[in-house]
Amino acid sequence: MSAPNPSDSGSARRLVRPAVAALAGYVPGEQPSDPRVVKLNTNENPYPPSPRVAEAIAAAAGNLHLYPDPDSSALRRAAARLYGVDPDGVVVGNGSDELLAMLLRAAVDPGEVVAYPIPTYSLYDTQVALQGGRSMHFPYPADWSLPEAIFGCGARVFFICNPNAPSGTLVPLDAIERLARENPGSIVVADEAYVDFCDGTAVGLVGRVPNLVVLRSFSKSYSLAGLRVGLAMTTPALAAELLKVKDSYNLDRLAQAGALAALEDQAAMRANVDRVRATRARLSAELGRLGFRVVPSETNFVLAYGPGESQEGVARSLKERGVLVRWFRALPDALRISVGTDAQVDRLLDELRSLVAR
Ligand SMILES: Cc1ncc(COP(=O)(O)O)c(C=O)c1O
Repeated sequence: MSAPNPSDSGSARRLVRPAVAALAGYVPGEQPSDPRVVKLNTNENPYPPSPRVAEAIAAAAGNLHLYPDPDSSALRRAAARLYGVDPDGVVVGNGSDELLAMLLRAAVDPGEVVAYPIPTYSLYDTQVALQGGRSMHFPYPADWSLPEAIFGCGARVFFICNPNAPSGTLVPLDAIERLARENPGSIVVADEAYVDFCDGTAVGLVGRVPNLVVLRSFSKSYSLAGLRVGLAMTTPALAAELLKVKDSYNLDRLAQAGALAALEDQAAMRANVDRVRATRARLSAELGRLGFRVVPSETNFVLAYGPGESQEGVARSLKERGVLVRWFRALPDALRISVGTDAQVDRLLDELRSLVAR
């Protein structure tokens, strides 16, 4: 019998777990190399982070021959002070994406259910499948409230992206608290990657509701998508369980130093958030004038339902003109548009006007 040839994909698939072989793999939004492209497709912050971040990274770069602090202690303490939680309940991750993976690795055995309302962050599907878990989807109703059926579904883990991507909508905190209290044997994750762009954080419930985990990202409000840092906040007891599945040095020295400097300059973050919110209001109003129905956004992006039916062609035409937005097969008549600088948004609106006029 001839040996399998791992260079052909059928043979390679037999070398990995069936859950991995069956996956198509997550496709992140496009990252073009041409700096002239107007990038409104992956919800980055268009403004630079606090200048203190680069200074802290430069200082940390002097010690790259040494491993980083495996516990990211200074960053955890600073986060705990800022958010009013127990430092032993804070876990840091290489982006909040790593924290999502750690939560699933810690809590979900093959075949167990992970539930979330949809449409939402599509990485949840990939990560649950990788873990061998079973995703249970609950479509959001027209008002984007938490679907009633999710409360009693008996999942092992619940993901509530709040505010949600790609809708930009927020569910009230009492709904999240109710979900956690009615499911005391499950972990309820409030994924708050975008929460700094609105008021509505569940961080005040951390510790009081023992099965709640609040996730934060430095990629959006702190303008640090390139650094890869996220935070999980929960009880010290649950954090201790999560730490068991963490890679020992998951956050490098530069990321720890940069994230700490960013946390310590709240004024810089707030100034960027205010600018994004002002541009968001203008973008939403102008899209409305162009015939789009814009879902009121609590985030740094807007979901805009087009005047025509499928928006796939519009997204493609914009790309040909050097403007990237996101189109999802699951929401064919809508575009998700990140809030850029005023100049970027003006360019998008000019291109859309000329497309509409055609
Ligand atoms: C809802 C949501 N959660 C988490 C993330 C990942 O954030 P990070 O860059 O911290 O991994 C994203 C990124 O787009 C997101 O949209």
